[in-house]
Amino acid sequence: MSPGVATALADRLGPGGWLPAGDIAAHLTDFRKVFTGSALGMARPTSTDEVAAAVRICADLGVAITTQGGNTGLSGGAIPSGDRPTVLLSLARMHTIEAVNAARSTITAQAGVTIEALQQEAVAADRLFAPDWGARGSATLGGAIATNAGGINVLRYGNMREQVLGLEVVLADGRIWDGLRALPKDNSGFDLKQLFIAGEGTIGIVTRAVVRMHSLPTAHRTAFAALRSLANLDELFALARSHSPGALSAFELLPEIGVAQVVGRYGIIRPVAAVADWYVLLRFSGADRIGDNLLTMLSTATDAGLVLDAVVAETTAQEDNLWLLRDELTATRSFGGFGVKYDLAVPPDRIAAFLRTASDAVEHISPGSLPYAFGHVGDGNLHFTVLRPGDDATLEADAGDLRAAIDRIVWDFDGTISAEHGLGRELRDRIAGQKPEVELELMRRVKRALDPEGTLNPGVMLPDD
Ligand code: MLT
Ligand code: ZN
Repeated sequence: MSPGVATALADRLGPGGWLPAGDIAAHLTDFRKVFTGSALGMARPTSTDEVAAAVRICADLGVAITTQGGNTGLSGGAIPSGDRPTVLLSLARMHTIEAVNAARSTITAQAGVTIEALQQEAVAADRLFAPDWGARGSATLGGAIATNAGGINVLRYGNMREQVLGLEVVLADGRIWDGLRALPKDNSGFDLKQLFIAGEGTIGIVTRAVVRMHSLPTAHRTAFAALRSLANLDELFALARSHSPGALSAFELLPEIGVAQVVGRYGIIRPVAAVADWYVLLRFSGADRIGDNLLTMLSTATDAGLVLDAVVAETTAQEDNLWLLRDELTATRSFGGFGVKYDLAVPPDRIAAFLRTASDAVEHISPGSLPYAFGHVGDGNLHFTVLRPGDDATLEADAGDLRAAIDRIVWDFDGTISAEHGLGRELRDRIAGQKPEVELELMRRVKRALDPEGTLNPGVMLPDD
């Protein structure tokens, strides 16, 4: 079976269209090297028709397909497990931005284009492509759609789902669904594209998309504030919102242990002199009076005793420096060691209470281990990790109990254990504890209806029956 599929794909996709297994090691593990797997090789189509042909070849030969974008995911959804013969499908050669329509404020692009390329194309058209996160230079449109990726601008502009107006998808049987409509309103039956967004490549392969652009803010100001106490977080968030009607575009929580690490590693100057347990990085984006409103808000917050110290970036370089600090938290997140990692969300007003409860649980279950959190608190989305620098073995031994307890706390707080990274291989079993059986059954039915042979991304997202 295996040599057959390799020959058939190499013939159909032509030069550069097929890489054998020995050449794709970097694609068989994620960048944190948490998930590894194996594949027969990597198909690299250059068009939707070639994707469809590759899918048909694999379907005929009973070979599974895992689609991989920029391989920046954190849940293992793009790494084939190797449990069954699998072809890795990369859309890296499908990276054309096909149309920028300023009148409609839309971009039509192939799935392999990077998030950064879309951002740059939008700015060239005096518009904003809003999705943004640290891996913008590698993460692709297709991967972001497949995981419904979030990032720092969700607070103002929504997730990937909110950006997508139309999709083109190759189905499990090789048919192409052209859903590339660009209508802000379309109530003509089921909104099928929503199934493929966050579908993690399990029911179809997104090959092209029409996405929204937004007005480019004519002004934006970023501030960094040292919180007096985590207990002041909700009040500061409320103050930021009330001082920036519609203009609060980011509100990120950073912990001192992360800031200290990034500052030490990258030689970034500490933004404020005060050393606090927690900091907030926030941005107002809009037009008139953005700077004045931000300063008024910060002085109100200082007078009210919510913050110890704060700074507003005055230059682009200062602003870039503040956001670099945030970007690099991602890279340093596990402090180079093992971490019990979460991409959770709870209602935004329960962040501080959640952190207290989860930290108490960590101390109880694994005394000496370190709860570490940063993230998009404006969305209730925390990247929460339990660490134990220098002693991975103890943490690994405690990991099962920690996960069981923290999952339960998240659900008790009416939250989710996956907010913006998807379920992938990491959470496919644990999600069964979060969703009612009827919901899991509906998900399985959708999978069976659209991929009856189970060819697309097996072992990802859905718990076994
Ligand atoms: C981020 O917000 O930096 C990303 O979601 C990545 C991460 O969780 O580490
Ligand atoms: Zn994030």
